[in-house]
Amino acid sequence: MEVEERAEEAPEGAHQRDLSGVFRYYELAKRAEWQVKDLPWGEIAPIPEYKGSPQKLARRQDLWRSVITQQLQADELAVEMATQLFAIAPDHEAKLYYTTMVQDESRHTEAWLKLIEQTGGMAERDPYLDQLAAHVLQADTLEEKVFLMQVFYERLIIPRFRMIARSTRGTILEDLCNRLTIDDGIHHGAGMAYERVLLESAGKKVKASLVDAANSLLPVFAKHALWRPKAREFIGALMRDTDIRMLREDLEQGIRLAQSLGIDASGIVLPRQLA
Ligand SMILES: [Fe+2]
Ligand SMILES: [Fe+2]
Repeated sequence: MEVEERAEEAPEGAHQRDLSGVFRYYELAKRAEWQVKDLPWGEIAPIPEYKGSPQKLARRQDLWRSVITQQLQADELAVEMATQLFAIAPDHEAKLYYTTMVQDESRHTEAWLKLIEQTGGMAERDPYLDQLAAHVLQADTLEEKVFLMQVFYERLIIPRFRMIARSTRGTILEDLCNRLTIDDGIHHGAGMAYERVLLESAGKKVKASLVDAANSLLPVFAKHALWRPKAREFIGALMRDTDIRMLREDLEQGIRLAQSLGIDASGIVLPRQLA
């Protein structure tokens, strides 16, 4: 497999690359590091508290359980992806940086696990999120993996955290989402910096393969963005228009990011849900 070969051979010219940008993200990540015990456990409510009938309360709790389950699932998968990036990245500075990302994703998972325990346990998994991760893990090249995970996915998750934080003021969930907004901002920034360096020495073939990788990921991403578990079906119909609008904004943002890396994004095909 191409990826394994790359990890073993010391890549030609790797030592001539300027990785100072990536190294800066390593230093930034070290400064931004926090601990799960820093969260105000036991001092404030884990999720928003409501008044109303037992049915209403149960429905609300299921809703937040479902939100937390999706984030737990996403961070669980992020541990695997970050570990793979750490393992195959040939550059010293990038490897250093990825040690922080592996720790971040595993700390995020730890926090979500604690939170889900306090809110009634795991709910339904999003099958499309598993498929998204499989796409990244099975991608052939490091360029594709960094592009799909850090450039694309980690950027798009940030508005989601902001949205959750806005509706969960004064809770552990809000606090965690605010921390993750910062962490994933660093993950995305580091990915942009590294991808730029990788693409400097990459040929047309590699850049074209990124367009193909995006085209195979986007239909799955669209299904993931529009997927609603049972616990959130009752707001699903109301949210459908918002979901479609956010999906469109996400993809436009993704295309702008690709272009800023010098990729010819004209070959990117929008998923049929937006056609
Ligand atoms: Fe994370
Ligand atoms: Fe992340």
